[in-house]
Amino acid sequence: MVWTNANLRDMIRQRLGDELFVVVSNREPYIHRFEGEEIVCEVPPSGLTIALDPVMRACGGLWVAHGSGEADHQVVDGSAHVQVPPESPAYTLRRVWLTKEEEQRYYYGFANQALWPLCHIAYTRPSFNLDEWETYQAVNRKFADAVLEEIGDRRAFVFIQDYHFATLSRLLKRVNIRTAQFWHIPWPNPEAFRICPWSEEILDGLLGNDLLGFHLQNHCQNFMDTVDRTIEAKMDYERFEITRGGCTTMVRPFPISVDYDAIVERAASPPIAEEAKRLARRHGLRKMLVGLGVDRLDYTKGIPERLRAVDRFLERHPEFQEKFVFVQVGVPSRVHIEAYQRINDEIDQLVESINWKYQRDNWKPILFLKAHASPITLYAWYQLANFCAVSSLHDGMNLVAKEFVASRAREDGVLILSHFTGAARELVDAELVNPYAVDEMAEAFHRAAVMPLEEQQRKMQKLRAQVHEQNIYRWAGKVLSTLFKFEFQEA
Ligand code: UDP
Ligand code: G6P
Repeated sequence: MVWTNANLRDMIRQRLGDELFVVVSNREPYIHRFEGEEIVCEVPPSGLTIALDPVMRACGGLWVAHGSGEADHQVVDGSAHVQVPPESPAYTLRRVWLTKEEEQRYYYGFANQALWPLCHIAYTRPSFNLDEWETYQAVNRKFADAVLEEIGDRRAFVFIQDYHFATLSRLLKRVNIRTAQFWHIPWPNPEAFRICPWSEEILDGLLGNDLLGFHLQNHCQNFMDTVDRTIEAKMDYERFEITRGGCTTMVRPFPISVDYDAIVERAASPPIAEEAKRLARRHGLRKMLVGLGVDRLDYTKGIPERLRAVDRFLERHPEFQEKFVFVQVGVPSRVHIEAYQRINDEIDQLVESINWKYQRDNWKPILFLKAHASPITLYAWYQLANFCAVSSLHDGMNLVAKEFVASRAREDGVLILSHFTGAARELVDAELVNPYAVDEMAEAFHRAAVMPLEEQQRKMQKLRAQVHEQNIYRWAGKVLSTLFKFEFQEA
């Protein structure tokens, strides 16, 4: 059986009954901002929110998140609620307001300068600062207050998202509340994790959950080992359960995914075809071989490595000069953090020097589009590309890889994918590469450039079948059936 939003909705109705379904994340699924006099609503470039939005559309309920848009205050009611998505409201977004100092210390500080680099092996050193850790805990309490205010004495299931809320579940412990948490980024090995001065508090905080999910079995194993070596707890390696302070936490892998059917429908829609034509005309790509990268400008994504591979590819295969363009869509991200400013500068300089090295007449090998792309533009790029390169140095899952595959209804095109993404465990028919090995990646570009259509189709069919079956509704169904301990309807 292929899971759909209708299956998930039925299952939720049956199993949750009148229990309130609450999702908590730092990033909100819709951001309101000003465009001149107008207020516009935007979908942020976050794998987490883009994956969970279809689940919430299917289930209804409440999503609690940081109200980070400059026009967010303008559109909420007196309870900081706004119905979303704006075009066809299906659930309630409750915005939590943070002061600038809270945002600086909790979001830019502890979450993104301590936990993010701690959990990703990308050789960026984490920094630990007591003020930031204290504010992180205070913001977790602020979110707990908001969630408890919303729930009152109703029965509720709270689904906490990601590394911004390591200490939240303990603060929600009540008889009427069950919690699950999904950690969207990797979990490192115990040696890497133990450098965090507050490792015990973080582990204790996470063990307030009834269920803790990671993308991969390997991250679950790392988490179990970290707990085993760091704090007092009863470990059950047979069942993958940990008991501490009277609470038992199941630890399980759930590889997240995308809304396959919605992507197929979107990819086939006339506005995407129109936009693809416009982009090809505007950038002179009609007769070009097009490679594509789509990322937040983050040091974990391996963007400099990818650009160096473009350089090596053109050096080794000069016949592709003037016939190939690599399009890099790059959304500025976490720009107040120094490591992000550095990666931005490095990428700018590389683009400039590689283009200078090869450019002739009107042709340049790299088209760097440094801005947030709307869904229409992004899916037009997915259509236009002959191959998509995902070269993360370390990535929990990577949804761009799955979106590219799902959107290729013609079954052509090649996915080049880093071994160090969660997606590589499932998408084994991609061209798998080590992003640290520039020649290997350059050769993968070449294989993609010359791959016969039948071979592309054979591989793409398998990749698409995988994403179709392991879609986001199945992911949500698995999480819920594990938490509520009922049998999951397998295919
Ligand atoms: N994305 C977007 N606009 C952009 C670039 C990216 O909407 O200009 C979306 C992309 O479609 C994907 C998400 O941002 O759904 C990125 O998710 P991914 O898991 O690849 O990485 P993350 O940024 O969450 O680490
Ligand atoms: C990753 C994280 C998410 C985050 C997203 C975008 O996917 O796991 O929690 O929302 O990146 O980052 P941002 O800091 O802009 O929310």
